[in-house]
Amino acid sequence: MRHAKQMLASLSIGFGLLMFSAAAAPAAYAQDATATMPNAPGKDVTIRTCTKCHAITNITGQHKDSDGWTATITKMVGYGASASDDEFQQILDYVTKYYGVNPPPADAAGAAHAKIVVNKETAAQLTTDLGLTDAEAAAVVDYRTKNGDFKTIDDLKKVPSVDGKKFDAHSADLQFS
Ligand code: HEC
Repeated sequence: MRHAKQMLASLSIGFGLLMFSAAAAPAAYAQDATATMPNAPGKDVTIRTCTKCHAITNITGQHKDSDGWTATITKMVGYGASASDDEFQQILDYVTKYYGVNPPPADAAGAAHAKIVVNKETAAQLTTDLGLTDAEAAAVVDYRTKNGDFKTIDDLKKVPSVDGKKFDAHSADLQFS
């Protein structure tokens, strides 16, 4: 009996999702799911572009690497998703960053805990090591050039339009001298 009830429950969830993907996304529902998405560049354009046919949960429930997301977005374009190349790039960057497959550095087999020398790293290194977008990494380098070396994580957080949580996530590895 209990079992049957559970089956029924999961069936109706499945059915609900099916119906939901088929119908135009009801705005209220879509907004609930989008509230949990990290506020970062690319979020708005992703929501705008990718909720035309289905719920954003199609995306937020997934983890794919950059190639996987590229393939998915290409498939969506085939279905009729439309945006400028630049917007698709922003979407790709956003979903790869937040819905990607990033094994935490600690998992890298036997690798010594790499320090992130924030005052020496190039924009490209900052992108890889801190998971910054290109624009954020450029902002860090720009700020560093204008204001001199960072001394603490709080200095880093003064860089405009960079999500401070990204620095927090690596606080143990940040090295300032
Ligand atoms: C023109 C309609 C349309 C738009 C716009 C659209 N999709 Fe889809 N999407 C679909 C359809 C139809 C499916 C289900 C069929 C399938 O899985 O291939 C789907 C399924 C998905 C899935 C689950 C299947 C998979 O391949 O992982 C993901 C993820 C996804 N879409 C991501 C996106 C993203 C990201 C965007 C924005 C760039 C987007 N969609 C915009 C039509 C669309």
